[in-house]
Amino acid sequence: DKVLKEKAPLYGKKVLITAGPTHEPIDPVRFIGNHSSGKMGFELALRAADLGAEVILVSGPTHLKVSNAQISLVPVVTAQDMYEAVHEYYSDADIAILAAAVADYRPAQVAGEKIKKHTAAMTINLEPTRDILASLGEQKKNQFLVGFALETNNELENARKKLSKKNLDAIVLNSLRDEGAGFGKPTNKITFIDKQGEEVSFSLKSKTEVAADIFNEILLRFDVKEN
Ligand code: CTP
Ligand code: CA
Repeated sequence: DKVLKEKAPLYGKKVLITAGPTHEPIDPVRFIGNHSSGKMGFELALRAADLGAEVILVSGPTHLKVSNAQISLVPVVTAQDMYEAVHEYYSDADIAILAAAVADYRPAQVAGEKIKKHTAAMTINLEPTRDILASLGEQKKNQFLVGFALETNNELENARKKLSKKNLDAIVLNSLRDEGAGFGKPTNKITFIDKQGEEVSFSLKSKTEVAADIFNEILLRFDVKEN
């Protein structure tokens, strides 16, 4: 049994994964969020564990549960929480995959009390959150760093731009053009793009299968990098 374990392709490796949405508070009872279910990130964590890795799964609010001895779940709420948690684990990671749907903006002020309704229109001022993935790209040493790109138009062009701008080793383009793909759905349609510009397109599949495809592509390139 031990021998089998040591033969697993990611035995002894540490994989850091982000998943889910973030919630940015407006007042004590309200927040800005998005429709991410966390499923893609959780499937990636399970796949990494199956491949023998030790997994840190930093996840925003989700209903998903995980019980796997190799996966440590680090629950977070806001983009800032996620930023801090990810930076705690990044220096030890061999592979980092950022699949979370992080809020790009948060309310500039959080009201201490529940905001009361009035008849007039109201405005909430937003300020940008920090880009977690870009910050990891800046600090990258030997980690194999993978991002996601969620696009509805100019998909490949936008994904390629994110790959180079954020200093990634690869990016997974998540195509929302397909009916069955994306938030809350059990399936995704992806294109894996590496930093050499190689692009591998996959058909619409379950997120479990998509996670396996992503790790197959990573392993092809990660081995090259290690030797
Ligand atoms: N990401 C992140 N921190 C943020 C925003 C995004 O780590 N504050 C990561 C996501 O987890 C994903 C990648 O960056 O891996 C791309 O996210 P996406 O929303 O597609 O792109 P953005 O760079 O935020 O640009 P835009 O939303 O304008 O397309
Ligand atoms: Ca974004």
